[in-house]
Amino acid sequence: MVILKWNGKKKESDILSEMDETSPFCIHDIYSSNRFSFKLVDEWKNLLIWGENKAILKSLLKTFKNRINLIYIDPPFATGGEFNLKIQIGKNKNYLDKIAYTDKWREGVDSYLNFLYERLVLMKELLAENGSIYVHLDWHISHYIKLIMDEIFGCENFRNEIIWAYPAASAKTRRFFIRSYDTILFYSISDDYVFNDNPKIYQEFSDRVKNALKKDDKGVFYYRGGSHNGKKLSRKVYIEKDGIFPRDVWNDIPYIRANTVEYQGFSTQKPERLLRRIILASSNEGDIIADFFCGSGTTLTVAEKLGRKWIGCDSNLYSIHIIRKRILNLSKSNDALNWKKFYNKEPNSFNILNIDKEDKINRIPNVFLSKDYRNKKLVELRETPNLSVKIHQKDNKIRVELIDYKIPFEDFISDKIKKKIKSYSDLIDYWSIDFDSGNEIFLNMWFSFRTPKSRILSLKSDEYQYKESGSHKISVKIIDIFGIETIKSYPIKTIS
Ligand SMILES: C[S@@+](CC[C@H](N)C(=O)[O-])C[C@H]1O[C@@H](n2cnc3c(N)ncnc32)[C@H](O)[C@@H]1O
Repeated sequence: MVILKWNGKKKESDILSEMDETSPFCIHDIYSSNRFSFKLVDEWKNLLIWGENKAILKSLLKTFKNRINLIYIDPPFATGGEFNLKIQIGKNKNYLDKIAYTDKWREGVDSYLNFLYERLVLMKELLAENGSIYVHLDWHISHYIKLIMDEIFGCENFRNEIIWAYPAASAKTRRFFIRSYDTILFYSISDDYVFNDNPKIYQEFSDRVKNALKKDDKGVFYYRGGSHNGKKLSRKVYIEKDGIFPRDVWNDIPYIRANTVEYQGFSTQKPERLLRRIILASSNEGDIIADFFCGSGTTLTVAEKLGRKWIGCDSNLYSIHIIRKRILNLSKSNDALNWKKFYNKEPNSFNILNIDKEDKINRIPNVFLSKDYRNKKLVELRETPNLSVKIHQKDNKIRVELIDYKIPFEDFISDKIKKKIKSYSDLIDYWSIDFDSGNEIFLNMWFSFRTPKSRILSLKSDEYQYKESGSHKISVKIIDIFGIETIKSYPIKTIS
């Protein structure tokens, strides 16, 4: 067998033996499918985990060894570049670019290979006996990773090198051919793996075929032909399927555009239809799907819509926040099986966890700072923002109104940004309420947030009615445009 060597390559056994150094997960946020009734235990919760994925993979192994049915990853591609996500301020639809992640490998290809190899070895341990893994890359590094995948998963378990071809509209080169496809490597764990022939994964007929066919009033394809007793006929022969079983070249899925419902302003966001094909083909309802580089959460979103359980993680807190909102807003996104309709369902319960032991001092992204303060440690925040609310109470019924939000670091913010902030509410991207916060964990019972398409935020909550009179604690959480999270609690007394 051919094996790739590089500097610093660890032995598989060493990677696996480091597994004892695991860190426990902490629950950061809870969302329940029934907003006012939270079951803290005994029920499957989808998991969105903030942190470095190597530590997360190791910790997941304690509970999920051989239990994950499908892994899709879209890691950095070793491009040497930086990738952005878009931030919006208040009602403004204009965007500011913030770096989402850097894909620079100062120590060269070796360091990239070390990075991915270690993680792939751990991912293999999580996969179920009938599971599969899809690794999304491009020309920069996919040829090296193909060899590594052969080594870890076995050449015999290689299934496809999928070419996802899309038009590269902005390519300017005239010195070589324009690069316009990504590579997705598909491996299974064994020969006994899930693979579904589902018409929803089919590729559309090519234009040549479509031109040769006719469509009836209902849009069903047919051709004229058939025969009887050796005689050629010219009757309608219907084609039962809408397309063909997919080849390994996928050129029927366009790249994300800003005018689509699914657009999240994340520069390397992948299309939901790409994940739909992968998830429908390689998993069944109720299976566990994982994405350890989940970005804007495309895999998790599609898994949720297709009735799969999901686990996702990302080291960027902004990603986690984008995904939180994307999942909560799912009912207004395209139905994965009937694209022209809205999904129209509330998401299942999910928890946001974190694992990082790092000091979590809030840092304001450079894009907001005036020149003098960019990249300075000074802008690490030790003081928390100040929020004020008004509690409207009638007996045991409560509404919370947001009336002010002040940041203690206004001096650091650039004038250009300050001009865009017309009111305190422009600083707020998301807020939520735990009406009965006896727990240490924040239960998001009511929330309002802005999305890339809808910039409206409700400043007054819906009414909440307490079942029991007495003392309660209301906690209010704000996530602002800088990504900073603030929680403040208020005691109240209710009488029925
Ligand atoms: C190419 S993007 C994924 C995009 C995603 N497929 C989507 O559709 O939005 C890669 C993501 O991996 C994350 N990432 C990179 N290194 C990571 C690490 N070591 N641990 C966790 N996340 C990481 C980045 O923050 C980034 O969000």
